[in-house]
Amino acid sequence: MSDKTKLAVLGSGKGSNFVSLAKACADGSLPAEIVLVASDIEGAGILEHATEFNRPARFIEPGPFRTKLDRNAEAAYVAALRESGAEWVALAGFMRILKGDFLRAFEKKVVNIHPSLLPAFPGLEAWKQAHDYGVKVTGCTVHMVDHGIDTGSILAQGVVPVIEDDTAATLHQRIQQEEHKLYPRTLARLFNGEIRI
Ligand code: GAR
Repeated sequence: MSDKTKLAVLGSGKGSNFVSLAKACADGSLPAEIVLVASDIEGAGILEHATEFNRPARFIEPGPFRTKLDRNAEAAYVAALRESGAEWVALAGFMRILKGDFLRAFEKKVVNIHPSLLPAFPGLEAWKQAHDYGVKVTGCTVHMVDHGIDTGSILAQGVVPVIEDDTAATLHQRIQQEEHKLYPRTLARLFNGEIRI
């Protein structure tokens, strides 16, 4: 039997964080097997990348709401994740809030990456919030997902200085470069038992 952690990845976007996790699984630095990649957006980049990496990829209907899953959708996500055998769930740009039933099904097993130094700038477009505010350093945070918005226990943070000519877009690019190192490294420490929650 494999001693690798079975991991599902949920995302709504282009999937660059998924790629960093998949590469780390392939080179052995992240002791995990990605058993499912699921998205609420049909044809999202993350699903295309999942297929490139030969990982099971599924679009799962999110239901009628824009920022959360409805009850049936939540049940469909839980069923798909259970069926995949996932032990942990990594959110990688999944732009919907996960609620009670989902979090109860994967209690203390859902992790997120957020593009700011929490608790500063929770919510949407955190890099733009930081840029508009005029902070001189920002970064990214890997944290446990709880019932709040970007409020769970912080597992690791990476610092990114804001430079003179940054636009929100160039800042986001550099934050993402940091995310691509921080996320696989933090999940590896978590699965190796080096981080206590
Ligand atoms: C990442 O920058 C991630 O931190 C952010 O979405 C981007 C997804 O990019 N997540 C959030 O803003 C969650 N609140 P990717 O699809 O290239 O991984």
